[in-house]
Amino acid sequence: MQEFTGRVAVVTGAGSGMGRAFAQRFAEAGMRVALADVEEAALDQAVEELRERGHDVIGVRTDVSSADAMRELAEQTLEAFGKVHVLCNNAGVEGYLEGTLWEATPKDWAWTFGVNFWGVVNGVQTFVPHMLEHGEPGHIVNTASMTAVIRPNNMYAITKHAVLALSEVLYANLRDRGAPIGVSALCPGIVNTRIYRGERNRPAELRNDPDPDREQIGEAQRTRLTSYLEGSMEPSEVAEIVMQAIREQRLYVLTDTDWNHLIEDRQANILAGRNPDLSVRFNPAARG
Ligand SMILES: NC(=O)c1ccc[n+]([C@@H]2O[C@H](COP(=O)([O-])OP(=O)(O)OC[C@H]3O[C@@H](n4cnc5c(N)ncnc54)[C@H](O)[C@@H]3O)[C@@H](O)[C@H]2O)c1
Repeated sequence: MQEFTGRVAVVTGAGSGMGRAFAQRFAEAGMRVALADVEEAALDQAVEELRERGHDVIGVRTDVSSADAMRELAEQTLEAFGKVHVLCNNAGVEGYLEGTLWEATPKDWAWTFGVNFWGVVNGVQTFVPHMLEHGEPGHIVNTASMTAVIRPNNMYAITKHAVLALSEVLYANLRDRGAPIGVSALCPGIVNTRIYRGERNRPAELRNDPDPDREQIGEAQRTRLTSYLEGSMEPSEVAEIVMQAIREQRLYVLTDTDWNHLIEDRQANILAGRNPDLSVRFNPAARG
């Protein structure tokens, strides 16, 4: 997709972080943008700020894990702007960090996969038929993660491997159809956002019963991981990378090379039939 002026973008998770930056970058390129987020106050503020700069945007409170909510987002976007050309399935949460996979509750699985994986499925199911129908050039950006291309080490990483796999299948489906719709699997490394504070948006019905020990472990993990984000890449830099990827119709979009040795390590282990050395892991202190 080369022409952005007057086209329409939908961005989920647009109330903050990378989604907020994508919405702004698209608007600056002359697009009309529908911002979707479950966090209403942040969404309203983002919409207000963009409108103050003279951009044509709407905000729709949307829980991406709900297919009905996604349909409502589509209806409101089409009512306001008529068509959709770019879809960023970007909303995500850090999800379950409290322990092993077998200690996770059904609510942990439902929340983590509901937002990170089903949110992308719902976006694809809702918007791709419309994009195929109008037939104009379009693009879908699914926010995976660098954790999608290395050995996964938690539930979050499992969801991101699934998002990458989904994107590769979607890419092939659209190429087979000869559709003028590109697909990008965005794999950010470490970006300065509030990603490890996703619990703020965890729905009441998916919260676990109080368990102080478990909560303490989760809080320690979130604090440790949040400290990695300081001084990391800014969301606006990722937005620039995304614009370029859309223009170039690039499927694999990695934001940096700091994780290359881990990508290679995983591939080498698989090819050699060798078990992973668990001490080989991302070291933020060694970031280039
Ligand atoms: N920050 C990083 O280092 C990093 C690295 C790799 C991938 N990512 C991915 O980038 C994406 C954007 O995250 P971010 O880093 O900007 O964090 P962020 O927390 O700033 O933004 C995520 C947004 O998603 C929204 N959201 C959460 N649950 C939702 C739901 N059910 N429905 C709709 N919106 C919901 C939040 O309100 C928030 O505005 C996520 O998919 C995340 O997994 C982040």
